[in-house]
Amino acid sequence: MARMAVSVLAILLASCALAAASFDKEFDVTWGDGRGKILNNGQLLTLGLDKISGSGFQSKHEYLYGKIDMQLKLVSGNSAGTVTAYYLSSQGPTHDEIDFEFLGNVTGEPYTLHTNVFTQGQGQREQQFRLWFDPTNDFHTYSILWNPKHIIFMVDDMPIRDFKNLEGKGIAFPKNQPMRLYSSLWNADDWATQGGRVKTDWSHAPFSASYRSFKADACVVTAAGRPRCGASIGTDAAPGTGGAAAAGDWYNQELDLTRQQRMRWVQSNYMIYNYCTDPKRIAMGVPAECSM
Ligand SMILES: *[C@@H]1O[C@H](CO)[C@@H](O)[C@H](O)[C@H]1NC(C)=O
Repeated sequence: MARMAVSVLAILLASCALAAASFDKEFDVTWGDGRGKILNNGQLLTLGLDKISGSGFQSKHEYLYGKIDMQLKLVSGNSAGTVTAYYLSSQGPTHDEIDFEFLGNVTGEPYTLHTNVFTQGQGQREQQFRLWFDPTNDFHTYSILWNPKHIIFMVDDMPIRDFKNLEGKGIAFPKNQPMRLYSSLWNADDWATQGGRVKTDWSHAPFSASYRSFKADACVVTAAGRPRCGASIGTDAAPGTGGAAAAGDWYNQELDLTRQQRMRWVQSNYMIYNYCTDPKRIAMGVPAECSM
């Protein structure tokens, strides 16, 4: 009898974990004066941008490691000059940050997916990609896996970048500053599209980007400052209660050989900028991690 109850509970928890977290529970729209909206019972969030303002939101929780998935549908049509930033960041002058940024383009020309990693306030680790689909037609999943050994960027589960923990070689790795998840839609036409040559066409405003299916398997930092780990934080499943041991597979995950090959395939076919191979950067001395 008791055993049956336990398995029923397990099934309930498993099915709850599949439901996406509600945006009302997990996020605050922090700026944009009504241009950011939570809709459909908390299942959809939209950000807006017009000539007066963009908009943005941030997570209520702070995370210290996690596998964070979100589906985004980007500004369609003539999105030149607009930037949709989607990133994890801690606070302060020596902050850590893990960035996805989507740079819009004129109709028919491709978006640029920009990625970067900041450790201890030090960034300049840009890698940029083309996407193998039109990110404005439909929702696609963008994921950040951040664990003690890796920061892996994924697009529809395809790894595109793996920033490894090389602390042993003297390179800082984000590991003790909790980060919040942020996103914003804003005007960056001074630099974003074709180097700032193409300006935002306000006759197409308001611009809009949409978010759904947020899922975080993460360690959440509690008020007491201790991370509380568990699968599917933010879903209706029971919150994680344990330390790192309770975190789940993502905590120790790395790319197996097949996934490393996939990543290399993406990088050789879709990478359009890599700070490690930028002649200007090389002239200044290649960052240490580039030669490892
Ligand atoms: C926009 O399209 C042009 C032409 O295809 C391309 O060179 C550029 O990288 C694209 N993206 C941005 C953000 O400018």
